[in-house]
Amino acid sequence: MKLVIKNKEEIAKSVAQIIVDEVKNNPKCVLGLATGSTPLDTYKKVIEISKLDKVSFKEVTTFNLDEYVGLDEKNDQSYRYFMNENLFKHLDFNRLNHHFPLIDNYEKYDDLILQHGGIDIQILGIGSNGHIAFNEPGTSFESLTHITKLASSTIKDNSRFFNSIDDVPKEAITMGLKSIIQARKIILIATGKNKREAVKKLLSGEIDISCPATILNTSLNEVLVFVDEEALG
Ligand code: GLP
Repeated sequence: MKLVIKNKEEIAKSVAQIIVDEVKNNPKCVLGLATGSTPLDTYKKVIEISKLDKVSFKEVTTFNLDEYVGLDEKNDQSYRYFMNENLFKHLDFNRLNHHFPLIDNYEKYDDLILQHGGIDIQILGIGSNGHIAFNEPGTSFESLTHITKLASSTIKDNSRFFNSIDDVPKEAITMGLKSIIQARKIILIATGKNKREAVKKLLSGEIDISCPATILNTSLNEVLVFVDEEALG
């Protein structure tokens, strides 16, 4: 695992450049994408750099990490809506190449990823409780894409995006920890002091299912962890 300490803006620039370089070198690459507030600046930079460099995303395939149960794609809190607004609609992606884990496809999601040759770059945020995607503390490191109940701390954290905490879905579909760890390159971004405790556990090198992100400490593939000073503590 390689640790990179930068400020938020520099993290966004660096991660965006890695993504755009991958697309330039491998126009048919497979990107694993995350939602949440953390990757927003990175996606802005991806759009900016790609437009400047005239990079085409036509043949890129995307697999998103997770989606809430019960929100349709027109709901502005669904992750499909988020991705469209914050990345997809700004570039020349082919809509047919976007994949999200949903009730009717989740059992085949891991096979679908394999059929596309696996994920080249997986972008990850991290929950304040150490979750990655919606793999909450206690999730098996052997888990594949599945339906999960959100931890009460996650419902509280994510309530800032909803009108009230009661509007936050209680369930989601998420790629599993085993699904995620198979990516050829993993980039985890953690910014802000809310992530400090989870980052500390991850960087301690421990491997513990009570902090799902620590599965990254078992990876033999390339893992880059970008943190700002606030998250580092
Ligand atoms: C959400 C998402 C995660 C994300 C995390 C952190 O619940 N399911 O994929 O990494 O929480 O979110 P944020 O980046 O807004 O802090």
